[in-house]
Amino acid sequence: MINQIDVFSSAHSFKEEDIRDKIVVMIDVLRASSTMVTALQNGAKGVIAVEDMDDASKISHNLDAESFLMSGEKNGITIDGYDLGNSPLEHTREVVNGKTIILNTTNGTKAIRRCSLADQIIVGSFLNLNAIVKHLQNLNEEVLLVCAGWRGRLSLEDILCAGNIIYELCEGDLPNEARDGAKVAFGLYEKFSDDIETSIKSSNYAVRLKDIVSEKDLEYCCQRSITDILPALNEGIITDING
Ligand code: MLT
Repeated sequence: MINQIDVFSSAHSFKEEDIRDKIVVMIDVLRASSTMVTALQNGAKGVIAVEDMDDASKISHNLDAESFLMSGEKNGITIDGYDLGNSPLEHTREVVNGKTIILNTTNGTKAIRRCSLADQIIVGSFLNLNAIVKHLQNLNEEVLLVCAGWRGRLSLEDILCAGNIIYELCEGDLPNEARDGAKVAFGLYEKFSDDIETSIKSSNYAVRLKDIVSEKDLEYCCQRSITDILPALNEGIITDING
């Protein structure tokens, strides 16, 4: 199946039509994907990924006030009036258990919305890497690893995660026939795999948000395969399909 995998470097690097009927893995390591995985791991009922504040507020009006929490960020900072920011570490069991999380982020949740024509949308991060690999191993169809990136630009951490998924799928031996996108992600992963955490700590994201996002968040998001949670979008809500 490895030759059927391609990588999109940002959520703006494709037309929505390119995604039609494909299997998509949306990757936003820092931090939307990691937050979704963690919220589900800690018992959240589901995550609704929204495009913007209007979208979030419309959805919240249709839900029972006790049943949901609003999470999200703008420029890394918690949105005014929201219950939580976009830090996975805020999404503890005590806080999120049994709740639906309405999540609004700059790139990750918008990337999910841009993939709406896909046959299946799965959420990938380092935290659930093995679960993603196991799921993809059993498929025999085209898979697109969609890196959320940052405002149309490539983000190192997302490409490294895509490369790590590809590396595991081909057991470190990428065939010549692999797609160009897969080759680039695989090559970058090989270059930086010795110390992913250090590479990510010097990424554009870490530098840009150094006064806002804690180092603990970065370290948390770099952990590999700490959970089998496999978030997938189903009728507008992201839930764990391994659960
Ligand atoms: C995003 O969606 O752009 C990020 O998750 C931003 C953040 O880390 O807060």
